[in-house]
Amino acid sequence: MLDAVRTPFGRYRGGLSGIRVDDLAALPLAELVRRHPELDPADIDDVVYGDTNGAGEDNRDVARMAVLLAGLPVSVPGSTVNRLCGSGGEAVSQVARGIRAGDFGLAVAGGVEGMSRAPYVIPRPEEALTRSMELHQTAVGWRMVNPRYPETWTTSLGAAAETVAVGLGIDRTAMDEWAVRSHTLAHEAWEQGLHEDWVVPVAPAEGEEVRRDESIRPGASMETLGRLAPAFSPDGPVTAGNSSPLNDGAIAMLLGTAQRAAELGVEPLGEVLATAAVGTEPDRWSLAPVPAVAKALARADVRHRDVDVWEVNEAFAAMVLSVLDTEPRIDRDKVNPHGGAIAIGHPLGASMPRVVVDCLRELRRRGGGIGVATACIGVGQGMAVVVRV
Ligand SMILES: CC(C)(COP(=O)(O)OP(=O)(O)OC[C@H]1O[C@@H](n2cnc3c(N)ncnc32)[C@H](O)[C@@H]1OP(=O)(O)O)[C@@H](O)C(=O)NCCC(=O)NCCS
Repeated sequence: MLDAVRTPFGRYRGGLSGIRVDDLAALPLAELVRRHPELDPADIDDVVYGDTNGAGEDNRDVARMAVLLAGLPVSVPGSTVNRLCGSGGEAVSQVARGIRAGDFGLAVAGGVEGMSRAPYVIPRPEEALTRSMELHQTAVGWRMVNPRYPETWTTSLGAAAETVAVGLGIDRTAMDEWAVRSHTLAHEAWEQGLHEDWVVPVAPAEGEEVRRDESIRPGASMETLGRLAPAFSPDGPVTAGNSSPLNDGAIAMLLGTAQRAAELGVEPLGEVLATAAVGTEPDRWSLAPVPAVAKALARADVRHRDVDVWEVNEAFAAMVLSVLDTEPRIDRDKVNPHGGAIAIGHPLGASMPRVVVDCLRELRRRGGGIGVATACIGVGQGMAVVVRV
């Protein structure tokens, strides 16, 4: 991993919502190339982006659109991959594999999601001269569900995470405490200037420049969170405050061989040792990081206890706590040292690369070590990336 750049993660309908999703995707790519004048962009063998929607301005192949909109040579190809919340992790995985196989010397992995601008979709009517139309939102979650699935598989992500967590005895207090921790640590990290060199300010055509992740609430407390109503079931513990929000954001990472890094005079951020994806029952998706981590660590020949930093993408506090409860070999004091998605945000396609890069940057700050970035994925998948500095 040679370098990485991201936009701030904008709040739903917030500062980045006026930017087309393909333009948003192009921003970090253009900045990545601008930062390396010694790099001939024509040498980039591929640009692979994660993106989970694909129904709006990110339609067709947003990675290729980003290449063209960022002004890269037309000879640079681009492909878009979808593993839902693991999409950007899948991009990292594919690029790392291409480098390991000797196909790529230099390539970009990244991701984008513009949840504010996710369109409504109208399916074609089954009958002629229809009197009604269905309208589906596409920002997040199930839509146009195939009736052949058991009903339990297609509940909302929040409801499924809640059911698993409640079954494990995890309560509202624990979830709210985790959310407060997330906001507090994320705010402190920005105050300490930990992100300024890789999160690039974005100036939309209208409105103020966005410099920081907009969903972070510095004043989050047990009192403010305690006032929020249940979000997914009448008396359930999951609320808007202990869930990740909906966000807009994009990220691009330059990966390459050690030889290409040396030729460019770039000191790598670190190394991708292994990646793994797993499947579980769709309604137990919140626990999928557990087997994903085990599989990736086995591939890297690393033990849980040798991991120095864990980045667990916080879809919901219910989900992180379920993972920690189920897998005690993940040391919770080493998890998300600078906050997580509950505060920083979760623009689906861009989220997993963000945890990979934050893991690497924290390891570098500490002088080296081994890290794991992991995410749960709707419809019952999990993914993990093992890195070393
Ligand atoms: C949980 C969820 C349904 C809430 O949606 P929402 O109701 O539109 O959320 P909002 O951001 O408007 O928050 C609702 C209220 O809680 C408040 N709130 C949210 N977080 C808060 C916090 N930390 N402290 C205080 N108040 C908070 C908001 O200000 C808002 O108040 P208002 O109604 O007075 O304006 C939505 O964020 C969601 O679906 N999250 C999960 C996304 C997801 O599934 N991602 C993929 C995971 S794999």
